[in-house]
Amino acid sequence: MKPVSELSGRTVVLGVSGGVAAYKSAELARLLVKAGADVRVVMTESAQHFVGPATFQAITGQAVWSDPWDARMPNGMAHIDLTRDAQLILIAPATADCIARLAQGRADDLLSTLCLARDEGCALMVAPAMNRQMWEHPATRRNVATLVDDGTYMEGPAAGEQACGEVGAGRMVEPADLLEAVLSHFTPKSLAGRQVLITAGPTSEAIDPVRVITNLSSGRMGYALAQAAVRAGARVTLVSGPTALALPRGVRRIDVASARDMRDAVMNNLSGTDVFVSVAAVADYRPASPSGRKIKKSADSMSLELVRNPDILAEVAARADAPFCVGFAAESHELDSYAQDKRRSKRLPLVVGNLVSDGLGSEDNLVVLYDDEGRHPLERASKAAVARAILEHISRLLKG
Ligand code: CTP
Repeated sequence: MKPVSELSGRTVVLGVSGGVAAYKSAELARLLVKAGADVRVVMTESAQHFVGPATFQAITGQAVWSDPWDARMPNGMAHIDLTRDAQLILIAPATADCIARLAQGRADDLLSTLCLARDEGCALMVAPAMNRQMWEHPATRRNVATLVDDGTYMEGPAAGEQACGEVGAGRMVEPADLLEAVLSHFTPKSLAGRQVLITAGPTSEAIDPVRVITNLSSGRMGYALAQAAVRAGARVTLVSGPTALALPRGVRRIDVASARDMRDAVMNNLSGTDVFVSVAAVADYRPASPSGRKIKKSADSMSLELVRNPDILAEVAARADAPFCVGFAAESHELDSYAQDKRRSKRLPLVVGNLVSDGLGSEDNLVVLYDDEGRHPLERASKAAVARAILEHISRLLKG
């Protein structure tokens, strides 16, 4: 099984109209290119007052278009050829004027003509950016309603401080969030209507007020799964141990520290859950009696009595109303036999196994999936790509 890269094979036309936020579109173009998309930039004339075509040309490695009469297009059909094999036109920023023109079906510049002349397989996504009063004006409200009626995806605007110094709705959605919207747009909704609960990160077990027992889990694999599940249409709750990671868009997070906190958060949020993915590196033991005061050094040696923590995954999987449970097995050796043992002993339909040397704390992961049918190795890939492949496997098992 081969995890595929996020936007490879996708062609996106990035339309840039004339607003201050046009400078952020250069970053958006970079993110789209980095995610593997073939990016063609079309600028309106006024956009070029804010940022030059050379910037986009350097970032995308492709010619930038703005003139419908551009002689570079071999057959003189720029208004059709640029979107012929595109699956998406993303206009960011879209000014009030640009939105008005789209709503009216105008075709007197290249960008509006491309939008009008595109075929059904090419979606239109619009990220408005304008002064808050322009956004609130009844004319803009009407135009936006028309675009939505026509099947356009609106992203934003966001609220906050504006270039003019006013505060309100009208800021362009940030490039990273627009990339997320594009990724989500292209992700098949294989988990639509499903509720997914995920644990991630390490746990932290107190020894005294300043010392803890923890482990090297970064939380990245669990966060990547949460993000991929949201993109696949699921409602996602992430119960997270201490990590330094940003919360993926659309995910509800509950922060916990110890294994017992994590267990309580899982049990309190289990109702309605269809899929439970237990990625957290839960400490198996905790100090038997943490000291309320900082322990002072006195003797040459000291010993710490540890007691077992609850096994959260085993407890969930043993319930009569258990959701579809997925466990993780991080092993230093004999991966196949330990992972299969875990699957059987905790009665899990699916275990994701990896050697600690292959994934713990790193950006990439190399995993093997174990289910009733046997073992399914995935190729080494980013945790985001591995997360997508794991979720595809889960959705196939859920359907089967
Ligand atoms: N797990 C859990 N609660 C625990 C311990 C583990 O929910 N107290 C979950 C992990 O999130 C993971 C799986 O169980 O999905 C790992 O199984 P486990 O047998 O506990 O693995 P290890 O803790 O690595 O066990 P061992 O040290 O015996 O290999």
